[in-house]
Amino acid sequence: MHEGSPKNYDTNKGIATKYIKVNLVNPEAELLEAGGLILRQGGLVAFPTETVYGLGANALDGRAVKGIFQAKGRPADNPLIVHVASREAIGGLVKEAPGVAKELMDAFWPGPLTIILPVGKGVPAEVTAGLDTVALRMPRHPVALGLIHAAGVPVAAPSANTSGRPSPTTAQHVLNDLEGQIDMVLDGGPAGVGVESTVLDLTLPEPTVLRPGGITPEELCLVLGTVNVDPQALYANKGEGRPRSPGMKYTHYAPRAQLLIVEGRAEAVALKIKELASEYRDRGRRVGILSYEDSADFTNTGEVILVGRRSQPETVAAKLFAALRLFDETDVELILAEGIDDRGVGLAVMNRLRKAAGGRIIHV
Ligand code: TXA
Ligand code: MG
Repeated sequence: MHEGSPKNYDTNKGIATKYIKVNLVNPEAELLEAGGLILRQGGLVAFPTETVYGLGANALDGRAVKGIFQAKGRPADNPLIVHVASREAIGGLVKEAPGVAKELMDAFWPGPLTIILPVGKGVPAEVTAGLDTVALRMPRHPVALGLIHAAGVPVAAPSANTSGRPSPTTAQHVLNDLEGQIDMVLDGGPAGVGVESTVLDLTLPEPTVLRPGGITPEELCLVLGTVNVDPQALYANKGEGRPRSPGMKYTHYAPRAQLLIVEGRAEAVALKIKELASEYRDRGRRVGILSYEDSADFTNTGEVILVGRRSQPETVAAKLFAALRLFDETDVELILAEGIDDRGVGLAVMNRLRKAAGGRIIHV
């Protein structure tokens, strides 16, 4: 582990990444202090949140934030979410917070809702990628809250994966991608929600979901009455127009194998997948199937990975990214995935799947 003055992340690859297991329910104060110190010194600490693992740096230190982009290979024009441990902490980060922002924080913080507001003066341009807005979130995970609190500064954190890979839902996923490039990983066990936070833009004429996530549009409507969902969030971006969330223009979550989604009624989808699988196998290609415990039986159809129950999208969300990473450990060349309903957190699941498939979708 690095001690003393901050490293230069431009040149210092191959640093020892300290791995620490933290008590999930009652995180040990001295471990959080150790992480907090690294953050204050300009280093990088990966930590669990209720959605996915994040890669944190001091949000007020532009140079430390640059280290995040370096370690992930993230394009510099993709802004970061600033994580806080209390509502008061957003004071210096925003220019103003409308009443509706406060209502949303009352309802959903701490939790998987990121709110975009006009940026205040103290936030370095590295965090916002030069935009005049800033994304803010107060996570619900005790280790995340404890770490931010111990750091004593707001923490900028994207998902702790190499850019373009599925987001990490375990500490091992983080190590697989970033070992040797970051100072510390705090292991709090598997992330519960499994897909990232909902990104809601409050700087547009109407509140607009830029990225569906752990808080569903249905839940937002309980507070807002109605909510817009950016069309780019519904379907994989095929390059038309300029996305409002810069991150949405990049290919994401992609496993190494080609991914093809089949959407439609469950029975018709199962038939189509079996038909496609045998077609591809006849051509000598190795096929994987991403399916669910309550779906058709795909035994002997290909390498099957079951991802929760399609009738309970929360269970699918919790396992989706781990499943995409698992396919990378097989020799599968083509993954056929069953689509699920867009309802509830199913919207976030399908957003990630469609992006991972780069828009390769068959409707039956
Ligand atoms: O659940 C999460 O949100 C996780 C955990 C670690 O908190 N974080 C996460 O961060 O998913 P990241 O960087 O992987 O995704 C943040 C998304 C990107 O699509 C980015 O473009 C968008 O939020 N974003 C950040 N700031 C923005 C801004 N000012 N305006 C529009 N979009 C913004
Ligand atoms: Mg990400």
